[in-house]
Amino acid sequence: MKKIKGRDSLDRIEDYTVETVPDADIIVNANETNEFCGDAMEKKLLAAVKACPINRYPSMHGEDLCEMIAEKIGVQPFQVCLGNGSSELLEKLCYAFGGAGRMIAYPNPSFSMYETYVDLADSIPVPFALTEDCRVDPDALISFCRKEKPAVLILCNPNNPTGTYNEKATMEKIIRSVDCLVVMDEAYIEFSNGGQDASCNSTLDLVNRYDNLLVLRTFSKAYGLAGLRIGYGVGSVPVMKILKKVLLPYHVNGLTLAIAREFLADDNYLKDRVSRIVRLREALSSDLAKLGFQVYPSGSNFIMIRPQGKVLDVLAEKAGTDADDEAGRARAGGKYLFDALLDRKILIRNYSQHPLLPGGLRISVGTAEENAAIVEAVAEIIGFGKE
Ligand SMILES: Cc1ncc(COP(=O)(O)O)c(C=O)c1O
Repeated sequence: MKKIKGRDSLDRIEDYTVETVPDADIIVNANETNEFCGDAMEKKLLAAVKACPINRYPSMHGEDLCEMIAEKIGVQPFQVCLGNGSSELLEKLCYAFGGAGRMIAYPNPSFSMYETYVDLADSIPVPFALTEDCRVDPDALISFCRKEKPAVLILCNPNNPTGTYNEKATMEKIIRSVDCLVVMDEAYIEFSNGGQDASCNSTLDLVNRYDNLLVLRTFSKAYGLAGLRIGYGVGSVPVMKILKKVLLPYHVNGLTLAIAREFLADDNYLKDRVSRIVRLREALSSDLAKLGFQVYPSGSNFIMIRPQGKVLDVLAEKAGTDADDEAGRARAGGKYLFDALLDRKILIRNYSQHPLLPGGLRISVGTAEENAAIVEAVAEIIGFGKE
């Protein structure tokens, strides 16, 4: 038997596993949008699919869609590139700007895949801590970058899994003050600022002012097109020249390009959807806060909650933990609640064992009915209703 071995550095990469429970009644664990796109968009989608010449290769880099995006945000088409989800761009930029032995900094707690992409590129991970309220402290981060000298600094605004975000002026101060490439992952930005003005916290309009900025956006969240796998990056011309070297031809499929063009063309679709989700998010946050949970202020399509006070006492007791410290009790209580919801066929995301979020549970905003069912189940599990 021949023993095949991969690159040594792959040994430390663990598989990305998310609990999948296909028969769950309510699935709110992946920050998807639970509503389908609606009849009008579905019609356009089907027409786009029908007209798509799938016997031909698509355009090499989705130039049509790049042009549409560029026009919307006022940059040159060359400054836009597409990815098979923004995930592809995160992976590729680590190859392009990181690579063996170069450091890439990213926040903690944040999107767990950053570390994996850094590892895949043989780069050196340098996580930096967010503040206690899960935001970026600009002065501390600027000092950190001056000391550590990473080649790339990834920022996640709003931050996954906490939903917290920083204002644009803070992000601009960081971009201006550091020497490295700043990757601004704005996967959830449309939901920030109460969903009122999607662009107000975005750094997209800074790409022509700062050569060291690359902004990532996705169609997976606000557009509700996670299954389509399409995201985009916008950056300065010099940054794009480098990133485009590592993008393969035809990396985004023709059906996806055709459908994404239809969705991008319809501004009202996005506005309606975002304002509805933000309203639902605020109601869900308020209901869970009334039950006694700590709810992080969210600028995204999900919320992070943690048991505290009376809720923590109840859940820790139900979990039967003998931990006597607050974090240990929260870890046990959070896990108990996660399992109890799963018993009721409600799948949320379990962060309860995360060292910086003990007891943390992330819940994506579902439909109004789903959110009501979640609140009701939580109230039943902890044994008391809304006060
Ligand atoms: C912060 C963040 N960035 C990027 C992504 C990747 O999104 P996609 O590849 O679907 O565009 C996600 C997905 O959940 C995310 O949470």
